[in-house]
Amino acid sequence: MSKKVGNKMYINIEKVAKLVNDKKCDAIILFNESNMHYICSFSPSEGVIIVTKGASAYHIVDSRYTEIAQINAQKTGVKVIEIKTSFSDTAKEIIEKENIKKLLYENETISLLQYKTYTQKFSGCEFVELNHELMLLRNKKEPFEIELMKEANNIAEKSFLELLNEVKAGKTEKELASLFDYIMAKNGSEKVSFDTILLTGTHTSMPHGTPSDRKVQAGDFVLFDFGATYMGYHSDMTRTIAIGKVTDDMKKMYDAVLFANLDAMKAIRADISGKVADSVARSTLDAWGFGKYFGHGLGHGVGLEIHEAPSASPSSQYTLKEGMILTVEPGAYISGKYGVRTEDMVVVTNDGCRNL
Ligand code: GLY
Ligand code: MN
Repeated sequence: MSKKVGNKMYINIEKVAKLVNDKKCDAIILFNESNMHYICSFSPSEGVIIVTKGASAYHIVDSRYTEIAQINAQKTGVKVIEIKTSFSDTAKEIIEKENIKKLLYENETISLLQYKTYTQKFSGCEFVELNHELMLLRNKKEPFEIELMKEANNIAEKSFLELLNEVKAGKTEKELASLFDYIMAKNGSEKVSFDTILLTGTHTSMPHGTPSDRKVQAGDFVLFDFGATYMGYHSDMTRTIAIGKVTDDMKKMYDAVLFANLDAMKAIRADISGKVADSVARSTLDAWGFGKYFGHGLGHGVGLEIHEAPSASPSSQYTLKEGMILTVEPGAYISGKYGVRTEDMVVVTNDGCRNL
């Protein structure tokens, strides 16, 4: 699978080159790890990428990354250049060779030091600020990206079902969380999408609690929030289960959250706002009497990062568009008692959404 979809990574270079042209610039310079991954198909912790308006892409690396960059370049077509002295000196050579006079940069992720270094070094170049547009570009997924995220989600889901055989009274949260991470790796995850959240009993009232030495007990809820990564793309899913018999109040909370999740997924489609999507889930929880226990937003975009645009929340400014992938994760949490969250990842379509 990786070979088939991997060959399509060059599409992203063309999309970024189009953005450069739309902004009437000559090139874009990228430093952010996820933005670089979008072009070079892996995540270097350090490096520089320049994409020109003619869709030439240069990946400037140091020797730690030369070989892996060259391997990935075979599917993306980027030119890999190893630095001799510094990233900025090598970048300058490319700026001069390509006669770049107007250069886009990502204002959300560039560091002040990088900004100062590069504007001083490229003094003949006009720097043009790019706000949110690259993130918006990244957020509308190509079919091959959706396939990669589906694969990440399949790995996570399969691993969850495998882990369930091990979830028994007496096991600690930490023990199960680390076993979960191992099972995901065994099933093909490159790394976890984020630190696995695995909480039991009273700890489930903390939406993003940290796994502890608490042991699973009969009558507990156990909450699993987890994700795998595949070719750099993330997945995100939450499930809550009960150990043995639970109270009617707990069952009611579980049902309320599940219906909020299902109602939101029924409502999500292209051209509705993130705010409206959120309000659908919130109304369902209100109707069940749990609205006041739902403190966070309904969901967030996912892709090369675990949290990206678009958000779905009471303050979201986004309109959902075909191809966007976001989570649908209503929850209810009663401090000191218990909590429930049910989370799926969906791709927005013109007439609804598809649950990955
Ligand atoms: N599943 C982790 C998060 O949404 O932040
Ligand atoms: Mn999430």
